[in-house]
Amino acid sequence: MKIPGNVDLTIDFCGLKLPNPFILASAPPTAGASRIKRAFALGWGGAVTKTIPPDSMEITDVSPRLKALRNDNGSIYGMENIELLSPKPISLWLDEIRDIKQCFPQNLLIASFMAEVRKERWQNMAMSLQKAGADALELNFSCPHGMPEKGLGSAIGQDEELISLITSWVKSVASVPVIVKLSPNVTDIGLMALAAEKGGADGLAAINTVQCLAGIDLDTFEPQPSVNGVTTFGGLSGPAVKPIGLRCVAQIAQRSRLPISGIGGIRSWKEAVEYILVGASNVQMCTEVMLNGYGIIKGLTEGLTQYLKSKGIDKVDQLRAKALSKLVNHGSLNRSYRVWPDLNKGTCNACGRCVVACRDAGSNALQITDSKLTLDIEACDGCSLCINICPSLKQSDPRGRCN
Ligand SMILES: Cc1cc2nc3c(=O)[nH]c(=O)nc-3n(C[C@H](O)[C@H](O)[C@H](O)COP(=O)(O)O)c2cc1C
Repeated sequence: MKIPGNVDLTIDFCGLKLPNPFILASAPPTAGASRIKRAFALGWGGAVTKTIPPDSMEITDVSPRLKALRNDNGSIYGMENIELLSPKPISLWLDEIRDIKQCFPQNLLIASFMAEVRKERWQNMAMSLQKAGADALELNFSCPHGMPEKGLGSAIGQDEELISLITSWVKSVASVPVIVKLSPNVTDIGLMALAAEKGGADGLAAINTVQCLAGIDLDTFEPQPSVNGVTTFGGLSGPAVKPIGLRCVAQIAQRSRLPISGIGGIRSWKEAVEYILVGASNVQMCTEVMLNGYGIIKGLTEGLTQYLKSKGIDKVDQLRAKALSKLVNHGSLNRSYRVWPDLNKGTCNACGRCVVACRDAGSNALQITDSKLTLDIEACDGCSLCINICPSLKQSDPRGRCN
């Protein structure tokens, strides 16, 4: 997608070209050809199919299988799901993949799949999906519900040997790039990325959902989402998981040379840029699309274009990993750098919230005297609690900044 003003949103992922870096993640918005085609028509660069299981695996979803987590103002900051894989037979998917590729040859279609830990199952599925026209294969080693109790999904993604083994099985028959989707539900995702690399993966995708328990109904004592009185642990997605996804992608980029598709809590072009800045070459989105529809792609591409123009950058890839060298060990952080609230900036109404916070959890450096906020700068140890809790308190120019 060439945008007037010399900004080029096209990207390369594992040697494949995409019109822009925005890909629909494997989830309900990619549950079939009619949905994916509608999304491509609106401008999405690529799509990963809902994970396709072998016909031998019975998939029966429960109801309800979603639970939104809301802020006090009602806005959704996260969503738990306990949805399983695609319930459609593979023969139907093969027809749908052919159909999508025939209608949209320029868009990237990645087939996500999962099978029992049997070599011929993974290999047969890989060969069928690529023969039908999938541009790449995504191995789902990361679903945190339903599958792990069968030794699949994130149970594979938590085992370095299995990650390498299954990836190598698929690689040995694959004629298209193989992408491994990693789970955040591990102690060190960098090690899992290296295991995928060892198995021959061409690219990585992270993160899948974060294992969670959305809440408990205080009247009925039923954990949510309640399926006739009981539930199971599920997977958290949406804005709440973005800091986890960003951390995971940065840790993967620090360890692995493979291209990364960044996923988790992306709502706008801004979070997409954050993922690219820590090393992703493109991003995948699910929850935001479930909440607001495919039409958000217009704002995503326009916002990214304007941002690149404002930075004088003409190609998305020039942003990649620009923030990575700024992630260092804690021991390397500058101890003489210090910030404090600048009381000359902002519009303090002397409500006193920062005073209480500073007294009970900070350094007791703030007071209200004659209805005016004052700061004892010598007592302030620069923790930044006040600046974080009060929208009108502004940060000072730092003291002791060394370049
Ligand atoms: C209802 C639902 C179903 C999902 N199904 C799949 C799936 O079949 N395969 C898969 O790899 N990920 C699946 N995911 C995970 C998403 O692809 C994505 O990794 C995750 O939701 C984080 O991205 P987000 O915060 O943009 O939603 C699903 C997520 C949701 C919410």
